[in-house]
Amino acid sequence: MSIGLAIVGAGKIGRHRARLARQHAGVSFLAIADINEDAARALAEEVNADMWTTDVASIVGSTDVDAVVISTQEMAHTEPLLLTLPFGKPTLVEKPLTLDLAEADRVIEVAKEHGVDLRVGYSMRYAQRYAVAKEQLEQKQIGQLIGGLARTYDTLAVAEAILRRSPTATPVMDILTYLVDVIGWYHPNARPIEVSARSNGSILRSRGHDVDDLTFAVVTYDDGAIFDFATSYSLPAGYPSNGMSTRFELLGTNGVLFISEDHGDQVLYSDAGFENAYVDQTLNFAYLGSRTSGEWAGGTMFGRVADETRAWLDHLAVGGPCHLTTAAEARTTLAVTLAIDEAAASGRIITLQEGT
Ligand SMILES: NC(=O)c1ccc[n+]([C@@H]2O[C@H](COP(=O)([O-])OP(=O)(O)OC[C@H]3O[C@@H](n4cnc5c(N)ncnc54)[C@H](O)[C@@H]3O)[C@@H](O)[C@H]2O)c1
Repeated sequence: MSIGLAIVGAGKIGRHRARLARQHAGVSFLAIADINEDAARALAEEVNADMWTTDVASIVGSTDVDAVVISTQEMAHTEPLLLTLPFGKPTLVEKPLTLDLAEADRVIEVAKEHGVDLRVGYSMRYAQRYAVAKEQLEQKQIGQLIGGLARTYDTLAVAEAILRRSPTATPVMDILTYLVDVIGWYHPNARPIEVSARSNGSILRSRGHDVDDLTFAVVTYDDGAIFDFATSYSLPAGYPSNGMSTRFELLGTNGVLFISEDHGDQVLYSDAGFENAYVDQTLNFAYLGSRTSGEWAGGTMFGRVADETRAWLDHLAVGGPCHLTTAAEARTTLAVTLAIDEAAASGRIITLQEGT
């Protein structure tokens, strides 16, 4: 099948998706939509799109369009989703699904009503090391998962870029959410039932953002497994990573699996300076390949957003495999991250009821 694709949101990630779609053999029509006319026009010109518009509903409703990508900011997913899902077209929305459980429920209900296969871009699932680990877990190489640890750090430079874009998306909702999604994927038959957490911070507050720098949480699942989730967004702005620095430690009944993604295996020092494109920052010392979404080189994109976008387009075009997060999985992850923030703010233990 040849695909007509509409990309809604012509920002940083929408630009990656649009460039990747333009290179995909299965995409025969590409439209760019953004409420910002300049952004829509500029990206459409760059990727030689078939059309651009500020009228999202008109293009998604067009018979030229078979599938939709929603690449708007975190707090701006619900509105375009509720506008476009009634057209009944397969949709990929960036993470997190929404920032609010009632909105997530409404989105899931509308997707169901109109038969939409709605997927959420938790692209960590498409980084090679995490997919290979999933395969080993499926083969029961470490037996039954009993728990483990998942932590991720990011720099103040990235934190401030995200908080400027989405002031209501906390580090837990925006970054730790990837790790909660991966643990949910690795441990699919267990349900998170209880959350405790502590947080602390003054660095981001001193810079005008009302969020903590550091959050540690313990999440218990209904099979007894316990996972420790930790994040900090407050590594010094000039720290050489351009994105998330992550570690997983998975403990099983007859094995362990450790994943280290702290980068540092490809180091650049340059007097001329390295451009950290995500935050408009120049670094002398940089960990190459550490940008979370992936990197372009010689006109090809490498990394998780590239592999995720291609896998989804292959799935639509020729029915290839697709392990992109479902809307129901994303809803569970949202409930856990909201509970982590609530537990940290209140000091209470939060119980997650089924369906809450
Ligand atoms: N998977 C990854 O590696 C990864 C990395 C970074 C960000 N993200 C996610 O991607 C999403 C977008 O982030 P970004 O950095 O590209 O944001 P951005 O601010 O660069 O771009 C968002 C664009 O959406 C447009 N927009 C907002 N509301 C709209 C609406 N209702 N209709 C049409 N257009 C609208 C804005 O005008 C803007 O051009 C976020 O959800 C973020 O969490 C994913």
